[in-house]
Amino acid sequence: MKTVTTISELRAERAKLTGPVGFVPTMGYLHAGHLSLARRAREECASVVASIFVNPTQFAPTEDLASYPRDLARDSHLLEDTGVDLLWTPTPEVMYPEGFQTWVTVDEVTKVLEGASRPTHFRGVTTVVAKLFNGVQPQRAYFGQKDAQQAVVIRRMVQDLNFPIEIVVCPIVREPDGLALSSRNTYLDSAQRQAATVLSRSLNAAKDAFHAGQHDADKLRALVTEIVNAEPLADLEYISCAHPDTLQEHKGKVDRVLFSMAVRVGRTRLIDNLIV
Ligand code: PAF
Repeated sequence: MKTVTTISELRAERAKLTGPVGFVPTMGYLHAGHLSLARRAREECASVVASIFVNPTQFAPTEDLASYPRDLARDSHLLEDTGVDLLWTPTPEVMYPEGFQTWVTVDEVTKVLEGASRPTHFRGVTTVVAKLFNGVQPQRAYFGQKDAQQAVVIRRMVQDLNFPIEIVVCPIVREPDGLALSSRNTYLDSAQRQAATVLSRSLNAAKDAFHAGQHDADKLRALVTEIVNAEPLADLEYISCAHPDTLQEHKGKVDRVLFSMAVRVGRTRLIDNLIV
């Protein structure tokens, strides 16, 4: 596996790869969820490129940019073992050189859910992903369903700006007790780690209720709220019962649903989701 930092190094190494090229963008501190994306890309593509960049523009000033976990040496070994051909690790200066002032924004689908409480987040994500796509020029790019809204936003951007890239969204990888893997899980102490199972427990209860015939959006939201509120260490930020593509909140009887939620456990903000 080659590792490059600058755009010119990337271009030179990218030119040597045979297609189709699969791309796995990450912010590092890799876990089994990221590696499942790299493995899928390895299975489906002739060449695989990954990137590691903790993108400052998708963090608000109050968020955890400075403390976001990083371990490049470990990440490089994991990616190499998974069969990645090329790793791009740009610096903030490479991605946002002095004078940078061009942004990519996606409108409606970024205003709800995560975007409602993190108003500048998706502008940072779409701008950096557009730059990563322009650098890597992949035929396919792999994202996790864990960030369900991010996947919807990226699909929208790719369609609206005619990027010739297929977006592949891979299933959430979970711990045996249901907790969705996240680099932020490392912030949890053992009591919080136990409490954090309330996200998947409450989503599964909504799924079970749905399959048992409860299709009323308000009742399904209320069920999840009740379960989360019963966990003393968890603080529910939102529970959404929305259309999986438009992210518009459902009212009344529902048919296809993306349940998504954000919960604070201590100072750690966790997200999870499930489609029925
Ligand atoms: O999902 C992530 O890790 C990030 O949002 C991404 C897509 C790598 C952009 O920084």
